[in-house]
Order: sequence, then C-alpha cells, then structure tokens
Amino acid sequence: MDTESPANGVQADQRRVPKHVAIIMDGNGRWANQRNRARTWGHREGVKSVRAVVEESVQRGVGTLTLFAFSSENWRRPPTEVSLLMDLFLSTLRGEVRRLNENGVRLRVIGERRAFSEKLQRRIADVEDLTANNTKLNLLVAANYGGRWDVTQAARRVVADVLAERLDPAAIDERAVAARLSFADLPDPDLFIRTGGEKRLSNFILWQSAYAELYFTDILWPEFGAAAYGQALDDFAHRQRRFGLTGEQVASQTGVAGDAWR
Ligand code: IPE
Ligand code: IPE
Ligand code: MG
Repeated sequence: MDTESPANGVQADQRRVPKHVAIIMDGNGRWANQRNRARTWGHREGVKSVRAVVEESVQRGVGTLTLFAFSSENWRRPPTEVSLLMDLFLSTLRGEVRRLNENGVRLRVIGERRAFSEKLQRRIADVEDLTANNTKLNLLVAANYGGRWDVTQAARRVVADVLAERLDPAAIDERAVAARLSFADLPDPDLFIRTGGEKRLSNFILWQSAYAELYFTDILWPEFGAAAYGQALDDFAHRQRRFGLTGEQVASQTGVAGDAWR
C-alpha cells in the first residue's frame, strides 16, 4: 500500500496499531450455503479464521481483541443451530487452551453467561483461570452479549451501589456508568470490524464503541484471514481520529494526523 499519498490525504503511521479491535464475525451461514453445505459447517470453518485473527493480533501488538460469537438475539435461531453453536463453543474452548497459552493470550467471556449450561459455564471459568496470567493479548469472547444488555446491567449496578450508599446519585456521570460496563478495565474499541457485507451494529458493543472507527468488508467470515485483517488494520492507520476537534487541530497537536487520542 502507498502510505505516502493516500486518497484521504492522511499520512499513515504504520505504528498506529489499534489498542482494541472488536469484530462481528458474520457470514458463516452464507459461506456454507454457497457451497451447498449446512450453515453449521460454516460455523466450524469459521473457527480457523478466529485462530488466524488471534495470532495476527498477537503479532501486530493489538492489546485487546473482542469477537462476537453469539448475540442475545441469536437464541431466536433454529434450535439445532443454537445447540451446534453451544457445542462448538464448548469444544473450541476445550481444544484451544494450549494454543492460547503458547501465544500468551488471556481469554475472558463477556455477556450473560447464566443462560449457558452448567457445563459450559464451568468450562468458561476454567479457561479464564488457565489463561489468567497471559499478557500478550486480551481476548474477549462476546457470548450471549448485547450492547443494550451491557448498559442495562451497568444501570443495575449503579442502582445497587446507590442503595448501598457506595455511590452518591449526584455523582453519577459517564465515568460512573462506564466503570460498571463489561471490560471496564480495558480500553474502548478503536476499530470495529464487520465481515459478511452487512452494514449494521446488530447490538454489539454500543456504549464503548461510541468513537470506534468502523470498517465493513464483504468477505464472509470463514474467508477472513490474516491478510484481510491486515488490510483492515492498515486502513485504520490512515484514519484521522478527531474526537470533535478540527483536522488542523489534530495535525498540529500530533505531527502525524490522527493520534489525538494517545
Ligand atoms: C455469524 O454468521 C455467526 C453467528 C451469528 C453465530 P451467521 O450465522 O450470521 O452467517 P450468515 O449471516 O447467516 O451468513
Ligand atoms: C451478529 O450477527 C452476531 C454475531 C456475529 C455473533 P447476526 O448475523 O446474528 O446479525 P443480524 O441478525 O444479521 O443483524
Ligand atoms: Mg449473520
């Protein structure tokens, strides 16, 4: 890629790696259908793309990667597909621990996990424990997750803290809410990717993505590998993030346009 004269006039700094990438892994079913196979085959094949993106994130120094594996709304799918997705989640968690540890990946699950079977909940807790000391990449798997659920559970915690007199209602501000959302200890997503051609957020991370750069690609998830992911990261390196400032203000503050958030 020509980094000297990009179309948008913003000079890329290839060292600008997003601290947090969030991905809606979409298109498994269509990918399988195009090959006259069951949708569920697409989900199985999609696991390979997960591995590729996790490893590329480690290579590139992305600190946090969040993958949308199952939305609050996905329970509405046919029971056989839901049950295959749960089995796949369980078997992938079981099978990947060694690879995660080899790559220095700490896995955490975000979402309402009480809806899962006891076995799956135990497995999630085990993998979280077994990878807890890894520091190269925080891998968040969003399962039974919804952006509105996240804001709602934060609201519930705010109320609980007020009732317990740990929080003064007059002191409730954005920070107080943000501190009670999922992954409050990690930075907000800088780059929000959706594969599979749809241009919507589908109730993925909402509050925390308020200033994320959006990137949509038609590539279906099972075909999304290190190269396609690298293109998204390169595209991000060309974005000028203004956070309400003018482009000139950002350029004069940083030298390289777009580093205002650091
Ligand atoms: C995304 O692929 C995976 C999950 C939602 C679990 P889809 O299953 O939504 O695939 P398409 O969009 O039907 O092709
Ligand atoms: C979003 O994809 C959820 C995941 C990728 C897990 P969907 O395919 O379920 O989204 P919609 O329903 O088409 O918006
Ligand atoms: Mg879909």
